[in-house]
Amino acid sequence: MTSSLINRINEASDYVRAKSADRKWRVFIVLGSGLGDLAKQAQNAIKIPYSEIPHFAQSTVAGHSGQFVVGDLFGVPVAMMQGRVHFYEGHPMWQVTLPIRVAQSMGAEMMIVTNAAGGINRQFTVADVMLITDHINFLGLAGNNPLIGPNDDALGPRFPEMTQPYDAEFCNWARQAAKANNVTLREGVYAGVAGPFFESPAELRMLRAMGADAVGMSTVNEVVAARHGKLRVLGFSGITNVARLSADEGPPPTHEEVMEASPKIAPKLSAIVQEVLQQWKLSRS
Ligand code: HPA
Repeated sequence: MTSSLINRINEASDYVRAKSADRKWRVFIVLGSGLGDLAKQAQNAIKIPYSEIPHFAQSTVAGHSGQFVVGDLFGVPVAMMQGRVHFYEGHPMWQVTLPIRVAQSMGAEMMIVTNAAGGINRQFTVADVMLITDHINFLGLAGNNPLIGPNDDALGPRFPEMTQPYDAEFCNWARQAAKANNVTLREGVYAGVAGPFFESPAELRMLRAMGADAVGMSTVNEVVAARHGKLRVLGFSGITNVARLSADEGPPPTHEEVMEASPKIAPKLSAIVQEVLQQWKLSRS
């Protein structure tokens, strides 16, 4: 790297701050595959394309629009990533997680992270929403994570702990929010893999044996970066397809299938997020 990570974070944050008229927000929302429409519900929105923000990578994936949106969502000031970048696109981990570092440096206190995922748990069906209660960071454990390399103590400790990556109080708010909206909320462990291939049946059976309920190609390293800096996290997976535990279980998954399921998931997620944001507001007043 030619400049330190801190410099890059500061340059990106300064740009976003200047472009968004120094608006204050404490909630940061990452919108996953096909779930970007939540950003359309933001009032007084200021949209900043990733291509303009210093050091940001650009999303190359269908279903990810690639802009940073600052606005009011259900009456709460938020910033949103409308589309994320993934490790499989070829970006280094520091860049995949740069937006999280920027959000932290701008004062974020809550991160709501969403993704599309394959359902490993046989109780789950397509269009279910799963509250992420824990994760298995498959590539992170093996060394592909944003904390590899020199540690900057200004960002977090050398050896952060991941005892509770997903905040217990936020999880309770999500459960209450789902109940209040008559949304069935599944719960489980999200396995983060690199992709971009959909997993083989044997790989999926391995993930199931390890305790995974859903599998996807994002999120876990964003959460590692967030927890490095003690940013509290709430996470949801939209189950877009059934992960095939044997080749004869049905047709193979496709990105189109993932995108088709998203419109059924988005309204449920929106209802839960709306309620959670009200809880957030209450907790701060
Ligand atoms: N596997 C990995 N990532 C995914 C899947 C899947 O089945 N569905 C949506 N994202």
